[in-house]
Amino acid sequence: MGHFPRHTPRSPSYLFPLVISLSLFSFTAILLYKVDDVVSRTGTVAGHNLEPTPWHVFPHKNFDDEPLQQRAVKIIQCSYLTCRVSASGDDGAVQRRFASEKTRRSECPNLFGAIRRDLEPWASTQISKAHLEKARNYAAFRVVIVGGKMYVDYYYACVQSRAMFTIWSFLQLLRRFPGLVPDVDLMFDCMDKPSINRTEHQSMPLPLFRYCTTKEHFDIPFPDWSFWGWPEINIRSWPEEFQDIKKGSRAVSWKDKIPLAYWKGNPDVASPLRTELLNCNDSREWGAQIMRQDWGEAARSGFKTSKLSDQCNHRYKIYAEGYAWSVSLKYILSCGSVSLIISPQYEDFFSRGLVTLQNYWLVDPLQLCPSIKRAVEWGNQHQHEAEAIGKRGQKFMESLSMDRIYDYMFHLISEYSKLLDFKPTPPSSALEICTDSVLCFADDKQRLFLKKSLAFPSKAPPCTIKPA
Ligand SMILES: *[C@@H]1O[C@H](CO)[C@@H](O)[C@H](O)[C@H]1NC(C)=O
Ligand SMILES: *[C@@H]1O[C@H](CO)[C@@H](O)[C@H](O)[C@H]1NC(C)=O
Repeated sequence: MGHFPRHTPRSPSYLFPLVISLSLFSFTAILLYKVDDVVSRTGTVAGHNLEPTPWHVFPHKNFDDEPLQQRAVKIIQCSYLTCRVSASGDDGAVQRRFASEKTRRSECPNLFGAIRRDLEPWASTQISKAHLEKARNYAAFRVVIVGGKMYVDYYYACVQSRAMFTIWSFLQLLRRFPGLVPDVDLMFDCMDKPSINRTEHQSMPLPLFRYCTTKEHFDIPFPDWSFWGWPEINIRSWPEEFQDIKKGSRAVSWKDKIPLAYWKGNPDVASPLRTELLNCNDSREWGAQIMRQDWGEAARSGFKTSKLSDQCNHRYKIYAEGYAWSVSLKYILSCGSVSLIISPQYEDFFSRGLVTLQNYWLVDPLQLCPSIKRAVEWGNQHQHEAEAIGKRGQKFMESLSMDRIYDYMFHLISEYSKLLDFKPTPPSSALEICTDSVLCFADDKQRLFLKKSLAFPSKAPPCTIKPA
């Protein structure tokens, strides 16, 4: 306003710019207020503005390191401005290529048969909007895929970066099979305990995806986030981690491995089984070494002492469920040692493919220490057979490549999609999310892990499931 002389008497021409600037100011204020409102209502893949799941509480996520304004800008930018620019290619081309190429379709492994069993509860009733509305009460987020685009509604925050890496896994599936993933609408919970009890929900089974299930639950198992990475405890994507563990397992030959059963983990997770396991910590009496994993200490030392690839020096490795299902099974099986699996209650999508004495040894939880001792004694007396069980366990995990995992996700989602009795549409409350928007929300470390697990279009079609 410099060109207005200082002492000009008040006049409409003097007031005019004042009115303009005043109204501009209030407009900006309203806009900022609106933005604040939008920001505070926008759930994100990082868990901003979300409460932890009430059925399994954990400390609130802490975003204190980000100044409030910076966080607001990030939420607006990542939620509303990132996906619009990503162009979609000619998805049909992929299908045409698969159809024209005489690529021999590989047959899916047997464990894919579990998909039909998992979805059997809805085979006759199908899945309605009412099913989903009710399943919503148990879900942390909802995933809707329409026309190859993905929309997510966030209800609760998930512990650590589980939501981020799970959403990422869906997006990578879309990248891997462009144009092939059908429209779908599903509810997902990210905690370790299944919640849809078969007895209690007998009259109306609710479809809910999570990382595990049990024989007593309807929950539908889906590959867990750690296949794509788990930055909080430095576990990289599955292909990287597996190759390293396999290499580490070869550092010591079977003969030179310590002829004892080994377990390292957190015994303080309110698990009677793990408490009981501490009683077997006697290498002479029970042939077992039970060690405490101190994650705080591991984090302080940069995870140098807890590298999974350095933990394959024993002939036998014990798997014990914790508070509920545990991600550690795949890393234990990867060692090539005999996995002594204490009769598990929880199953995940791949553990249904395991066969006792073929690729692992089953331990009786009711006679825990004697059962471990028996396995160790048998193995040390039958070294060839024991070594072979260990090797087959490792082979089983090796055959579970990312290709196979995407195949599994593809078939599970396709079969599930066929059961929907309505046409999925993007819910008005849900925001589109894409690979770039997840990267936008990720912190530096998460971004590093995410980028390592980026998927690229498959050259081959998904494996084929044997007809029922
Ligand atoms: C399922 O519910 C029934 C009936 O309430 C209960 O007896 C049973 O213990 C529950 N099962 C599990 C695995 O929680
Ligand atoms: C098990 O025994 C070993 C050797 O005596 C000991 O170093 C270790 O701390 C024990 N483990 C636990 C969990 O107490």
